[in-house]
Amino acid sequence: MSAREAALARRSWSKVTSAAPTREELLPLVAAAGRVADHSSLRPWRLIELRGEDRRRLGAAISAVRGDREPSSKPLRAELLIAVVVSVRPSGKVPAWEQEAVASGVAHLLSLLLDEAGWGVIWRTGEYTRSPEIARLHGLGEGESLLGWLYVGGKPEKDPGRRRPVDAESVLSRLPADPGAVSAGPDDATSRTEGSSLPREALPREAKPRTKAPRTPEELAERSERKRRKKAEKKRRKAVKKAKKAAARMRRLASSSVSDDAID
Ligand SMILES: Cc1cc2nc3c(=O)[nH]c(=O)nc-3n(C[C@H](O)[C@H](O)[C@H](O)COP(=O)(O)O)c2cc1C
Repeated sequence: MSAREAALARRSWSKVTSAAPTREELLPLVAAAGRVADHSSLRPWRLIELRGEDRRRLGAAISAVRGDREPSSKPLRAELLIAVVVSVRPSGKVPAWEQEAVASGVAHLLSLLLDEAGWGVIWRTGEYTRSPEIARLHGLGEGESLLGWLYVGGKPEKDPGRRRPVDAESVLSRLPADPGAVSAGPDDATSRTEGSSLPREALPREAKPRTKAPRTPEELAERSERKRRKKAEKKRRKAVKKAKKAAARMRRLASSSVSDDAID
Protein backbone atom coordinates (compact mmCIF):
# COMPACT_ATOMS: atom_id res chain seq x y z
CA MET A 1 0.00 0.00 0.00
CA SER A 2 1.38 3.42 -0.90
CA ALA A 3 1.47 6.26 1.67
CA ARG A 4 -1.30 7.97 -0.29
CA GLU A 5 -3.46 4.85 -0.28
CA ALA A 6 -2.88 4.40 3.46
CA ALA A 7 -3.83 8.04 4.13
CA LEU A 8 -7.00 7.74 2.06
CA ALA A 9 -7.98 4.48 3.77
CA ARG A 10 -7.35 5.63 7.36
CA ARG A 11 -10.34 6.26 9.61
CA SER A 12 -10.78 6.90 13.31
CA TRP A 13 -12.21 3.85 15.07
CA SER A 14 -14.24 5.02 18.06
CA LYS A 15 -15.09 1.39 18.93
CA VAL A 16 -12.30 -1.16 19.04
CA THR A 17 -12.00 -4.75 20.19
CA SER A 18 -9.90 -5.83 23.17
CA ALA A 19 -6.97 -6.86 20.98
CA ALA A 20 -3.91 -4.61 21.17
CA PRO A 21 -0.39 -4.49 19.76
CA THR A 22 2.32 -5.68 22.11
CA ARG A 23 5.17 -3.37 23.05
CA GLU A 24 7.40 -5.31 20.60
CA GLU A 25 4.90 -4.74 17.80
CA LEU A 26 4.61 -1.09 18.72
CA LEU A 27 8.32 -0.25 18.82
CA PRO A 28 9.06 -0.38 15.05
CA LEU A 29 5.99 1.76 14.36
CA VAL A 30 7.12 4.34 16.92
CA ALA A 31 10.58 4.35 15.33
CA ALA A 32 9.00 5.05 11.92
CA ALA A 33 6.60 7.71 13.26
CA GLY A 34 9.56 9.46 14.88
CA ARG A 35 10.95 10.14 11.42
CA VAL A 36 8.68 13.16 10.93
CA ALA A 37 10.38 16.43 10.01
CA ASP A 38 11.86 17.88 13.17
CA HIS A 39 13.37 21.38 13.08
CA SER A 40 16.88 21.22 14.61
CA SER A 41 16.22 17.53 15.49
CA LEU A 42 15.15 18.48 19.01
CA ARG A 43 12.95 15.36 19.32
CA PRO A 44 10.42 17.38 21.37
CA TRP A 45 8.10 14.49 22.13
CA ARG A 46 7.72 11.22 23.94
CA LEU A 47 4.99 8.61 24.30
CA ILE A 48 3.61 6.78 27.34
CA GLU A 49 1.90 3.39 27.10
CA LEU A 50 -1.13 2.92 29.35
CA ARG A 51 -2.26 -0.67 29.72
CA GLY A 52 -4.32 -2.60 32.25
CA GLU A 53 -4.51 -0.85 35.62
CA ASP A 54 -2.93 2.35 34.20
CA ARG A 55 -6.22 3.03 32.42
CA ARG A 56 -8.16 2.80 35.69
CA ARG A 57 -5.76 5.27 37.31
CA LEU A 58 -6.38 7.63 34.39
CA GLY A 59 -10.16 7.13 34.78
CA ALA A 60 -9.90 8.06 38.48
CA ALA A 61 -7.78 11.13 37.69
CA ILE A 62 -10.25 12.29 35.02
CA SER A 63 -13.19 12.02 37.42
CA ALA A 64 -11.21 13.87 40.12
CA VAL A 65 -10.56 16.75 37.70
CA ARG A 66 -14.21 16.82 36.64
CA GLY A 67 -15.53 16.44 40.16
CA ASP A 68 -17.40 13.25 39.27
CA ARG A 69 -18.14 10.64 41.92
CA GLU A 70 -17.57 7.62 39.73
CA PRO A 71 -14.24 7.03 38.00
CA SER A 72 -14.41 7.74 34.28
CA SER A 73 -14.71 4.58 32.21
CA LYS A 74 -13.52 6.38 29.09
CA PRO A 75 -9.94 5.06 29.23
CA LEU A 76 -11.33 1.51 29.33
CA ARG A 77 -12.61 1.87 25.77
CA ALA A 78 -9.35 0.39 24.48
CA GLU A 79 -6.75 -2.00 25.87
CA LEU A 80 -3.92 0.31 24.91
CA LEU A 81 -3.77 4.08 25.24
CA ILE A 82 -0.72 5.95 24.02
CA ALA A 83 -0.30 9.33 25.68
CA VAL A 84 1.36 11.83 23.34
CA VAL A 85 3.63 14.25 25.16
CA VAL A 86 5.16 17.40 23.74
CA SER A 87 8.46 18.11 25.50
CA VAL A 88 9.36 21.65 24.58
CA ARG A 89 13.16 21.99 24.49
CA PRO A 90 14.89 25.28 25.20
CA SER A 91 15.82 26.69 21.79
CA GLY A 92 16.52 30.16 20.47
CA LYS A 93 15.63 29.00 16.99
CA VAL A 94 12.65 26.68 17.31
CA PRO A 95 9.64 28.18 19.12
CA ALA A 96 7.23 26.05 21.18
CA TRP A 97 4.57 26.02 18.44
CA GLU A 98 6.98 24.39 16.01
CA GLN A 99 7.82 21.75 18.59
CA GLU A 100 4.11 21.07 19.17
CA ALA A 101 3.76 20.67 15.41
CA VAL A 102 6.47 17.98 15.49
CA ALA A 103 4.80 16.07 18.35
CA SER A 104 1.44 16.35 16.62
CA GLY A 105 3.03 15.03 13.42
CA VAL A 106 4.33 12.00 15.33
CA ALA A 107 0.85 11.29 16.68
CA HIS A 108 -0.72 11.56 13.23
CA LEU A 109 1.93 9.40 11.60
CA LEU A 110 1.76 6.78 14.35
CA SER A 111 -2.04 6.66 13.95
CA LEU A 112 -1.59 6.10 10.23
CA LEU A 113 1.04 3.40 10.70
CA LEU A 114 -1.08 1.57 13.28
CA ASP A 115 -4.11 1.79 11.00
CA GLU A 116 -2.11 0.45 8.09
CA ALA A 117 -0.84 -2.40 10.30
CA GLY A 118 -4.48 -3.37 10.92
CA TRP A 119 -5.14 -1.68 14.29
CA GLY A 120 -8.09 0.59 15.02
CA VAL A 121 -7.04 3.99 16.40
CA ILE A 122 -8.73 7.17 17.58
CA TRP A 123 -7.02 10.24 19.01
CA ARG A 124 -8.91 11.41 22.07
CA THR A 125 -8.64 14.50 24.22
CA GLY A 126 -10.84 16.17 26.83
CA GLU A 127 -11.07 19.39 28.83
CA TYR A 128 -8.89 17.67 31.45
CA THR A 129 -6.03 16.90 29.00
CA ARG A 130 -3.80 19.71 30.27
CA SER A 131 -4.85 19.74 33.91
CA PRO A 132 -2.10 19.53 36.58
CA GLU A 133 -3.60 16.31 38.02
CA ILE A 134 -3.40 14.53 34.68
CA ALA A 135 0.13 15.89 34.13
CA ARG A 136 1.17 14.53 37.53
CA LEU A 137 -0.27 11.09 36.77
CA HIS A 138 1.79 10.93 33.57
CA GLY A 139 4.93 12.17 35.31
CA LEU A 140 5.29 15.18 33.05
CA GLY A 141 8.26 17.44 33.65
CA GLU A 142 9.14 21.05 32.95
CA GLY A 143 7.98 22.20 29.49
CA GLU A 144 5.92 19.06 28.94
CA SER A 145 2.22 18.86 28.10
CA LEU A 146 -0.16 16.27 26.75
CA LEU A 147 -1.64 16.31 23.28
CA GLY A 148 -4.12 13.57 24.19
CA TRP A 149 -4.17 9.80 23.86
CA LEU A 150 -4.26 7.41 20.94
CA TYR A 151 -6.78 4.71 21.82
CA VAL A 152 -5.62 1.53 20.10
CA GLY A 153 -7.41 -1.78 19.65
CA GLY A 154 -8.60 -4.31 17.14
CA LYS A 155 -10.78 -3.21 14.26
CA PRO A 156 -14.29 -4.61 14.82
CA GLU A 157 -16.36 -6.19 12.05
CA LYS A 158 -18.46 -3.08 11.66
CA ASP A 159 -16.58 -0.58 9.55
CA PRO A 160 -16.91 3.08 10.69
CA GLY A 161 -17.64 4.00 7.06
CA ARG A 162 -15.86 6.32 4.71
CA ARG A 163 -15.37 10.02 5.31
CA ARG A 164 -16.30 12.66 2.75
CA PRO A 165 -13.40 13.12 0.34
CA VAL A 166 -11.40 16.32 0.70
CA ASP A 167 -12.07 18.90 -2.01
CA ALA A 168 -8.44 19.70 -2.73
CA GLU A 169 -9.39 22.59 -5.07
CA SER A 170 -11.03 24.46 -2.21
CA VAL A 171 -8.06 24.28 0.14
CA LEU A 172 -5.12 24.76 -2.21
CA SER A 173 -4.82 28.39 -3.23
CA ARG A 174 -2.26 30.93 -4.37
CA LEU A 175 -1.05 34.15 -2.77
CA PRO A 176 -3.50 37.03 -3.10
CA ALA A 177 -2.65 39.09 -6.20
CA ASP A 178 -2.75 42.30 -4.17
CA PRO A 179 -2.54 41.63 -0.41
CA GLY A 180 -3.17 45.33 0.32
CA ALA A 181 -6.37 45.60 -1.73
CA VAL A 182 -9.51 46.28 0.29
CA SER A 183 -12.28 43.85 -0.59
CA ALA A 184 -15.55 45.41 -1.77
CA GLY A 185 -17.39 42.20 -0.89
CA PRO A 186 -17.37 38.51 -1.67
CA ASP A 187 -18.00 39.10 -5.41
CA ASP A 188 -15.15 41.52 -5.81
CA ALA A 189 -12.39 39.89 -7.82
CA THR A 190 -9.77 41.39 -5.50
CA SER A 191 -11.30 39.56 -2.54
CA ARG A 192 -10.49 36.18 -4.04
CA THR A 193 -7.14 34.51 -4.26
CA GLU A 194 -5.88 33.34 -7.61
CA GLY A 195 -6.92 29.78 -8.33
CA SER A 196 -9.44 29.69 -5.49
CA SER A 197 -13.16 30.18 -5.45
CA LEU A 198 -13.14 31.03 -1.74
CA PRO A 199 -13.55 34.62 -0.59
CA ARG A 200 -10.39 35.90 1.03
CA GLU A 201 -12.16 36.04 4.40
CA ALA A 202 -12.41 32.25 4.34
CA LEU A 203 -8.71 31.80 3.76
CA PRO A 204 -5.88 32.10 6.24
CA ARG A 205 -4.57 35.66 6.42
CA GLU A 206 -1.07 36.19 5.22
CA ALA A 207 1.26 38.03 7.54
CA LYS A 208 1.79 41.62 6.48
CA PRO A 209 5.36 42.16 5.27
CA ARG A 210 7.22 44.25 7.79
CA THR A 211 8.50 47.60 6.54
CA LYS A 212 11.71 48.89 8.00
CA ALA A 213 11.47 52.33 9.60
CA PRO A 214 13.68 54.84 7.72
CA ARG A 215 16.74 55.94 9.62
CA THR A 216 18.92 58.22 7.48
CA PRO A 217 17.82 61.57 5.89
CA GLU A 218 18.20 59.89 2.47
CA GLU A 219 15.84 57.11 3.50
CA LEU A 220 13.38 59.68 4.86
CA ALA A 221 13.49 61.66 1.61
CA GLU A 222 13.05 58.48 -0.41
CA ARG A 223 10.04 57.52 1.68
CA SER A 224 8.34 60.90 1.28
CA GLU A 225 9.02 60.80 -2.49
CA ARG A 226 7.43 57.33 -2.64
CA LYS A 227 4.42 58.66 -0.72
CA ARG A 228 4.12 61.67 -3.04
CA ARG A 229 4.24 59.43 -6.14
CA LYS A 230 1.66 57.07 -4.65
CA LYS A 231 -0.67 60.00 -3.89
CA ALA A 232 -0.25 61.41 -7.39
CA GLU A 233 -0.96 58.00 -8.94
CA LYS A 234 -4.11 57.65 -6.82
CA LYS A 235 -5.26 61.13 -7.96
CA ARG A 236 -4.58 60.25 -11.59
CA ARG A 237 -6.55 56.98 -11.35
CA LYS A 238 -9.47 58.83 -9.75
CA ALA A 239 -9.46 61.40 -12.56
CA VAL A 240 -9.39 58.67 -15.24
CA LYS A 241 -12.30 56.88 -13.54
CA LYS A 242 -14.28 60.15 -13.38
CA ALA A 243 -13.60 60.87 -17.05
CA LYS A 244 -14.68 57.36 -18.04
CA LYS A 245 -17.91 57.74 -16.07
CA ALA A 246 -18.63 61.10 -17.71
CA ALA A 247 -17.97 59.62 -21.19
CA ALA A 248 -20.32 56.71 -20.45
CA ARG A 249 -23.01 59.16 -19.31
CA MET A 250 -22.60 61.16 -22.51
CA ARG A 251 -22.91 57.98 -24.59
CA ARG A 252 -26.07 56.97 -22.69
CA LEU A 253 -27.60 60.41 -23.26
CA ALA A 254 -26.71 60.30 -26.96
CA SER A 255 -28.20 56.82 -27.44
CA SER A 256 -31.41 57.75 -25.56
CA SER A 257 -31.91 60.78 -27.85
CA VAL A 258 -31.43 58.51 -30.92
CA SER A 259 -34.08 56.07 -29.66
CA ASP A 260 -36.38 59.03 -28.85
CA ASP A 261 -35.95 60.15 -32.46
CA ALA A 262 -36.81 56.64 -33.62
CA ILE A 263 -40.03 56.62 -31.57
CA ASP A 264 -41.03 59.91 -33.01
C1 LIG B 1 -6.08 16.58 18.26
C2 LIG B 1 -7.26 15.67 18.09
C3 LIG B 1 -8.12 15.47 19.15
C4 LIG B 1 -9.21 14.62 19.03
N1 LIG B 1 -10.04 14.43 20.11
C5 LIG B 1 -11.10 13.61 19.99
C6 LIG B 1 -11.95 13.36 21.11
O1 LIG B 1 -11.73 13.85 22.18
N2 LIG B 1 -13.01 12.53 20.93
C7 LIG B 1 -13.27 11.95 19.73
O2 LIG B 1 -14.26 11.23 19.62
N3 LIG B 1 -12.45 12.13 18.66
C8 LIG B 1 -11.39 12.93 18.76
N4 LIG B 1 -10.55 13.12 17.70
C9 LIG B 1 -10.77 12.33 16.46
C10 LIG B 1 -11.67 13.06 15.52
O3 LIG B 1 -12.97 13.03 16.02
C11 LIG B 1 -11.62 12.36 14.15
O4 LIG B 1 -10.33 12.41 13.65
C12 LIG B 1 -12.57 13.06 13.21
O5 LIG B 1 -13.87 12.77 13.56
C13 LIG B 1 -12.37 12.67 11.78
O6 LIG B 1 -12.55 11.28 11.60
P1 LIG B 1 -11.46 10.42 10.86
O7 LIG B 1 -10.22 10.47 11.70
O8 LIG B 1 -12.06 9.05 10.73
O9 LIG B 1 -11.22 11.01 9.51
C14 LIG B 1 -9.45 13.96 17.79
C15 LIG B 1 -8.58 14.17 16.73
C16 LIG B 1 -7.50 15.00 16.87
C17 LIG B 1 -6.56 15.20 15.71
